[in-house]
Amino acid sequence: MSKTRIDRDAILNASRAMATKTKPAPTPSRQPTAAANPDRTDFKRLDLYEQIRIQREAAKTLGVTNPYFIEHQGRASATTRIDGKTVLNFASYDYLGLNGLPEIQDAAIDAIGTYGTSVSGSRPTSGERPFHRELEADLARLYESEAALVFVSGHATNVSTIGELLGSADLVIYDGFSHNSVVTGCKLSGAARKTFKHNDFDDLERILSEQRNQYDHVLIIVEGLYSMDGDLPDLARAIELKERYQAWLMVDEAHSLGVLGKTGKGLFEQQSIDPRKVDIWMGTMSKTLSGCGGYICGKQELIDILKFFASSFMYSVGLSAPLAVAAKASLQVMQQEPWRVEKLQSNGRYFLDHAKQAGLDTGLSAGFCVVPVIVGDSLRAVKLANNLLERGVYAFPITHPAVPMNEARLRFFITAEHSEEQLQQAIDITAEELRKLEAEGFSLLSSLAGQIEAG
Ligand SMILES: Cc1ncc(COP(=O)(O)O)c(C=O)c1O
Repeated sequence: MSKTRIDRDAILNASRAMATKTKPAPTPSRQPTAAANPDRTDFKRLDLYEQIRIQREAAKTLGVTNPYFIEHQGRASATTRIDGKTVLNFASYDYLGLNGLPEIQDAAIDAIGTYGTSVSGSRPTSGERPFHRELEADLARLYESEAALVFVSGHATNVSTIGELLGSADLVIYDGFSHNSVVTGCKLSGAARKTFKHNDFDDLERILSEQRNQYDHVLIIVEGLYSMDGDLPDLARAIELKERYQAWLMVDEAHSLGVLGKTGKGLFEQQSIDPRKVDIWMGTMSKTLSGCGGYICGKQELIDILKFFASSFMYSVGLSAPLAVAAKASLQVMQQEPWRVEKLQSNGRYFLDHAKQAGLDTGLSAGFCVVPVIVGDSLRAVKLANNLLERGVYAFPITHPAVPMNEARLRFFITAEHSEEQLQQAIDITAEELRKLEAEGFSLLSSLAGQIEAG
């Protein structure tokens, strides 16, 4: 995941310094050097690969285990198995615990029996199946919108929808904490781009008042619940601004569907707002809906445009039967079993309150499904995650550039499946391990200084 890198520049510079110190003197040779005669097809020569190599080398030099791409043996729920050991799991966003629920799994298996595992072509050319239309009808009903469209990836949904809807005469304004898929879509669109300070609607208003008249269409993008910080936007204020300045409003509900509102319908339910006031509802099926893919809900004309112009819909395979049916069944369970939403919300509150009591810095979190524990230094975040894993708690470190410099953190995804005892155990161990690292003065700079002295 390119979002989650160790503080690259500091490590790169320090590693280069160490590498230069220990490099043997070059041996003179009559043969042409690699530099004089480079192999232009060698991937190793790419700067992208060099970044990875240096990071690996630095992690090795600093004695930090790579926390990425850890293999899990089996389905991850409140617990997961890593290296044959059961650990508490805070790194999966199966918020309502629906992944693997027998009735959802059985529905997916039945669908495979009827339709197979793939629809083997794009929907415009190879045709639709009833499950596509049924899932879209259910999603449209949820947001009280005229129509919906499902894509095979949540990330591609944002990239393609934003990318295709806007053009060079338009302006897109998005929250500074927006997800990579939003930012990538904005870049692809060719529209003028502006970010407003995170959740600062005065800043958004300033941009609108200064710039609105210079553009044809304006799109404002916010998230229902921010994935790195766990806080929410003021939807009423966003709607008021978009109406006053004649802009479209898009809300990415990736982390708020199933999480916010009494019955999990998301941000509009939580803030008692008519969902029809939002122009573009976007969401993913990889989180609460225990599947994979993304969706857009809105006016029929918007959906028609996307059906014909969104390249990752038009030129990509349709959603497969097991994924579509699992998402549809998950949506049904979410609505029929509101206790799951209630349990998730009470778990989120418990974790936030008790983490604060334990002296942990939970940043902006509102205490729903995402609670960060901010530790500042990137290397400290990675080391803390490794130490926690050794003690049976799996939480993923998020470092710069995914979050601002010096705001590296461990991100805890809370689900309805966690017990309060598990939440408390994770908090106690985190507070204890963090205190140890602080007492040792463990940080990127202290480690580098130690290595350079030793080297
Ligand atoms: C806010 C947000 N939008 C979009 C996506 C992309 O969704 P997916 O992972 O289902 O492709 C994510 C992924 O985590 C996300 O956090």
